[in-house]
Amino acid sequence: MRLSNKVAVITGATSGMGLDTAKLFLKNGAKVVLTGRSQEKLDALKDQLEGEYLLVKADAASLADSKELVKTTVNHFGKIDILFLNAGVFEALPTGQLTEEHFDKIYNINVKGPVFTVNEAAPQINDGGTIIFNTSVSNVKGMPGVSVYGSSKAALRSVVRALATELAPRNIRVNAVSPGPIETPIWGKTNLTEEQVGGFAEGVSGQVPLGRFGKGEEIANTVLFMASDEASYITGTEIPVDGGMAQV
Ligand SMILES: NC(=O)c1ccc[n+]([C@@H]2O[C@H](COP(=O)([O-])OP(=O)(O)OC[C@H]3O[C@@H](n4cnc5c(N)ncnc54)[C@H](OP(=O)(O)O)[C@@H]3O)[C@@H](O)[C@H]2O)c1
Repeated sequence: MRLSNKVAVITGATSGMGLDTAKLFLKNGAKVVLTGRSQEKLDALKDQLEGEYLLVKADAASLADSKELVKTTVNHFGKIDILFLNAGVFEALPTGQLTEEHFDKIYNINVKGPVFTVNEAAPQINDGGTIIFNTSVSNVKGMPGVSVYGSSKAALRSVVRALATELAPRNIRVNAVSPGPIETPIWGKTNLTEEQVGGFAEGVSGQVPLGRFGKGEEIANTVLFMASDEASYITGTEIPVDGGMAQV
């Protein structure tokens, strides 16, 4: 019970790492707010979750939804202790074929959303609380087709540094988890064909010293550590959970 009575908000928690983290947080005594953009997917979680939780429909790219999310959380659970900005999308396009739509979609969900969610939430986070962003190895590893996605995650890495200094006077720690290739439903939601995803995945996993995709639970375990008091002297950093991909 490493998070007893802590209030945690996890964006994009209807599948993958967000959902795995929500389940682990609930097991560890946290009260968890899970967000998603699909009411149907949120409703389907009721059979899978145990503990004190709240499901909130909120599009990560919408400033109005972020505002409403924070308001609903505070009304229901009081102040926030842990904010995990996890919602994100992955698409790949080579330069020469980039579109404004591709850029806006990725930046609105992956960058604008988290930045403005923190903007709304920060005043409602308890002193001593913590904020964790979900970045990616692609913020330091070059990969074909990933200039927009990779740079969206690099932007978040930079936001972590600035916020860590801004919020340190309130003892709010700000960090990121940086996943390598992880087996989650995201691979079925890209703009790539099944064959292209297979090729991309093969190329990427060939660069992982541990020689495999990671699991959502391996990210959740790290996020639990970062959210807990065991990480009390860690701020402004990014912890890679990437099988060594960006480390060697
Ligand atoms: N899997 C990887 O290999 C990998 C590697 C590095 C970093 N990441 C990052 O890890 C994070 C989690 O991804 P995942 O792999 O766990 O994928 P996932 O299973 O697709 O989970 C992403 C979650 O975010 C939600 N989401 C997407 N767009 C949203 C929006 N506009 N508003 C609200 N919720 C939204 C998704 O809901 P829907 O189902 O409705 O889309 C889903 O619940 C992302 O930020 C991703 O960029 C993933």
